[in-house]
Amino acid sequence: MTSPLPVNPALVPLVACQHGATIPVVGLGTFGSDNYTPDQVASAVDQAIRLGYRHIDCAAVYGNEKEIGCVLKRLFEEGVVKREDLWITSKVWNNKHGAVREACLESLANLGLSYLDLYLVHWPFPNHHEKGVTVDSRDPHAVPYVHARYLKTWAAMEALVDDGLVRHIGTSNMTKAKMQLLLKDCRIRPIVNEMEMHPHFQQPELFAYLTGEGIKAIGFCPIGSPGRPERDKTPEDTVPIEDPVIVAIAQAHGVHPAVICVKWAAQNGQIPIPFSVKPEKFMANLRCVTEDPLTPAEMAAIKQLDKGNRFIKGQVFLWSEAKDWHDLWDEDGRIAGYER
Ligand SMILES: NC(=O)c1ccc[n+]([C@@H]2O[C@H](COP(=O)([O-])OP(=O)(O)OC[C@H]3O[C@@H](n4cnc5c(N)ncnc54)[C@H](OP(=O)(O)O)[C@@H]3O)[C@@H](O)[C@H]2O)c1
Repeated sequence: MTSPLPVNPALVPLVACQHGATIPVVGLGTFGSDNYTPDQVASAVDQAIRLGYRHIDCAAVYGNEKEIGCVLKRLFEEGVVKREDLWITSKVWNNKHGAVREACLESLANLGLSYLDLYLVHWPFPNHHEKGVTVDSRDPHAVPYVHARYLKTWAAMEALVDDGLVRHIGTSNMTKAKMQLLLKDCRIRPIVNEMEMHPHFQQPELFAYLTGEGIKAIGFCPIGSPGRPERDKTPEDTVPIEDPVIVAIAQAHGVHPAVICVKWAAQNGQIPIPFSVKPEKFMANLRCVTEDPLTPAEMAAIKQLDKGNRFIKGQVFLWSEAKDWHDLWDEDGRIAGYER
């Protein structure tokens, strides 16, 4: 099979964030889940960077930072890219909230880097679960959000910036209620919140709040994560790439509906991080932000598709007294289980 044509990285728009950060508007996701091995994901990172990607979304819990590190080393040695040309994100996993520096140093060692562009607190809960557990299993040690505890983790994140180990810090899976607390008490503000965003889950209130605070949204599952394991699907879940409006717009542009989801995200002011290890797919996701934009009417039509349909519900992070996954998301503006 022939390799897709490269995309000139200079044509990929940069999103300007606080503290002078500029992030390429499309990043490559690297969560292979049950479907792809660490080597397959690393090989995709290799090809993606050779073909024009400059933004890679990593995390310790994805279990492939070592393999991605080998790829980065080779690319630097071959002179394909320089370190400063890349935007590399990683995330501290829930079981390391009390050992942020150790976790960061481990990710840096695995990735073979001396600094990260962005380090995120992956979830606002220190709640761990074993790989592949069923969605209804609960860790007996799991706790609700405890702000004082999160602040300690955040202070350790801030220290990483002070020490030059990371350039910027951010949050992931935060709600408005939790973010309000953090912004009140932090010394260094998060430049981004990484959160689920796709046409069927647009999170308009949180997105508007973040925008008002100058915090950008990195959108995960921008295509609606059609390949996520069956155990992570519920009967209510919809499929954005099968939505007739998305399908019709895709036909009008002569592309796959997934590409329309990525275009919409980028034009909507988010930073989507679609995943694929298949070059024709991941390059379509990058190329699409350099050409043939959606019209205002198409953007308006997609805005109407929001169903408030969260796919990554986080059930495995629930504590024993929690009712159900809605307790993780502060839907009534209150933080479940948290006494102020
Ligand atoms: N911060 C967090 O808590 C968090 C949570 C979840 C995910 N993430 C990040 O977000 C990334 C993306 O999320 P995700 O992988 O769950 O979902 P996604 O990007 O919405 O969906 C990925 C799926 O879409 C398909 N796809 C990708 N590009 C396509 C194209 N151009 N045409 C047709 N199909 C296409 C892929 O199919 P194939 O398998 O056939 O290639 C893959 O199965 C992850 O890899 C990870 O880096 C972060």
